[in-house]
Amino acid sequence: MSKETFFITTPIYYPSDKLHIGHTYCTVATDAIARYKRLRGFDVMFLTGTDEHGQKIEEKAKEAGVTPQAFVDKIVEGPGGILDLWKLMNISNDRFIRTTYDYHVAAIQRIFRKMYDNGDIYKGAYKGKYCTPCESFWTESQLVNGCCPDCGRPVHDAEEEAYFFRLSKYAKPVQELLESGTFLEPASRVNEMINNFIKPGLEDLCVSRTSFKWGVPVDFDPGHVVYVWVDALFNYATALGYMNDRYHDYEKYWPPVNIVGKEIVRFHSIIWPAMLMSVGEPIPKKVYGHGWLVIDGGKMSKSKGNVVDPYLLAEKFGVDALRFFLLRTFPFGSDGNFSNELLINTINSDLANAFGNLVSRTVAMVEKYFGGTVPAEREAGAPDDELLSLIRETPERYAKQMDAFQLHLGLEEVFRLIARANKYIDETTPWILAKDETKKARLAAVMANLLEAIRVTLILLTPFIPDTCAKAFEQIGAAESERTWDSLPVASGNTVSAYGGHEITVHRGETLFPRIDTAKMLEELEALHKPATPPAKPVLPDVTIDEFAKCDMRVVKILSCEAVKKSEKLLKFTLDDGSGAERTILSGIHKFYEPEQLVGKKAVAILNLPPRKMMGQESNGMLLSAVKEDTKGNEELHLMIVSDDVPVGAQLC
Ligand code: MSP
Repeated sequence: MSKETFFITTPIYYPSDKLHIGHTYCTVATDAIARYKRLRGFDVMFLTGTDEHGQKIEEKAKEAGVTPQAFVDKIVEGPGGILDLWKLMNISNDRFIRTTYDYHVAAIQRIFRKMYDNGDIYKGAYKGKYCTPCESFWTESQLVNGCCPDCGRPVHDAEEEAYFFRLSKYAKPVQELLESGTFLEPASRVNEMINNFIKPGLEDLCVSRTSFKWGVPVDFDPGHVVYVWVDALFNYATALGYMNDRYHDYEKYWPPVNIVGKEIVRFHSIIWPAMLMSVGEPIPKKVYGHGWLVIDGGKMSKSKGNVVDPYLLAEKFGVDALRFFLLRTFPFGSDGNFSNELLINTINSDLANAFGNLVSRTVAMVEKYFGGTVPAEREAGAPDDELLSLIRETPERYAKQMDAFQLHLGLEEVFRLIARANKYIDETTPWILAKDETKKARLAAVMANLLEAIRVTLILLTPFIPDTCAKAFEQIGAAESERTWDSLPVASGNTVSAYGGHEITVHRGETLFPRIDTAKMLEELEALHKPATPPAKPVLPDVTIDEFAKCDMRVVKILSCEAVKKSEKLLKFTLDDGSGAERTILSGIHKFYEPEQLVGKKAVAILNLPPRKMMGQESNGMLLSAVKEDTKGNEELHLMIVSDDVPVGAQLC
């Protein structure tokens, strides 16, 4: 009989920068589910990949002075890139898709045309509010405080001839889908979608762009590229061979379970099913929206300098410890506050003390009392029942949680068993039994029960910490056939398992999780985060006082400030320079300031530089900023803001 199939996906990541611990969390969680399903005997297809098109990537490549393709190639396949990260984290994906692969591009063109031919895509003109970093158009009513509802950044007016998808046509079936059954989980996200997006009225979605080139061209209208989200969402299908001949697994594995972060639930639970309805394909079995890893309650971001590097943590603590921490600590559906201290505490208390100690103590006792082999002759005793019942019940309880993607609760069940087994050692006092020759058979039973508890624990922990479990299985002498789901004892059974009946030979091995000195490690991590001071720049050659005096530098007041269209860096300032007329200056500091932070402030400008055109606009002078440079040459600009007491127009001397 062929195995039941299970198709699971992560979102495809933007290769616009190095991935951080938040992305790693999402992939590790999906990996644990995929490994669990394989353990349960499913024929699993686990897909991950990268979402490589769009304006943001085009701009980043331009900044880096390379082609977009070269830019993404480096981030995806280069040393220390995304593929390396997943290898390091022991991710067991069966396939990896890049949206720049030819087969995907061709399939997207066919899919776009199919929706155009069936009338669900039509040509119109788009006027709206556009958020460049999110590559999303928004309607006025969707904005939050006038800003992008996803990322909170300012949006700007944009208009272009574009193709539209008839999303409005699918409002009713999508609402029914959301309300029926368990398509979208956790359930709390359903109301969020219905109240925030469906009830206010679903508008047709703009699905093509003409303002940039880096995307899948609409083959029947070359100036247009397909909206990056249409391109991205269909990756889940094209990677199986939908609308292409590269693979032939679509029939076998479709539909998927899509694991996604909370901020992209909207795309996956509204737009995605609507488009699948349009092309007449089955919708996903489930979309699961997990929470975010945050730092001190806030978002990780480069500009805040609080981005947590998974490479560094894996190197310091080990891959399995990191995987475990991520899935044990944070309830999968909710946000979780990351901290190094929490990470170290979890490793010490759960992995080093509770789990690691149980394994090492048991193996050491079997070596000491039996020369490494537990004899088959055993005698039951009163404290056994509670432990044996828990051994029998735990797999079922664990499975119930794992089937609902409640990974932290699945682990909770395993750790209940571990704690019970540790308690059993104290109850049975093997060191006292060992002193009495007549208690050999009793001591053998105690050791066998402990080894059985460990064996069950290892099977259940395998999806989370696969490498460690493989090592520990060796230590407790479990054969391959004793590492499978089918070899687990069942709740209704009255014997423990075959493993309990035969001689068991253990092999002492390395300490699985050494205890970490919290204070020392925190200090080490702290030191790594302290920015190294770059070498001071040499002082430039002398200028005369007369030369200096030629620079007309004055205090100016910022009357208004706005982002310059199509530029990531530039802000346009309207200034009062004390002359009575308003002055316009452009400054490349948008990465460091939002316009509203600066309006009303007083700054310093040099006024007598020749006018200069930037992005089609004229700048008359330059605002002065201090440059903070790190060791890698990254610059951070700090605008020279002066006290409010200094009058506008005051000259610097
Ligand atoms: N490219 C889109 C997804 C397209 S899927 C058809 C995208 N990419 S992303 O790189 O920005 O994010 C990928 C995933 O990483 C998202 O699910 C997002 O929620 C997740 N995370 C990014 N930062 C995160 C945290 N700090 N914590 C947890 N997950 C986070 O969106």
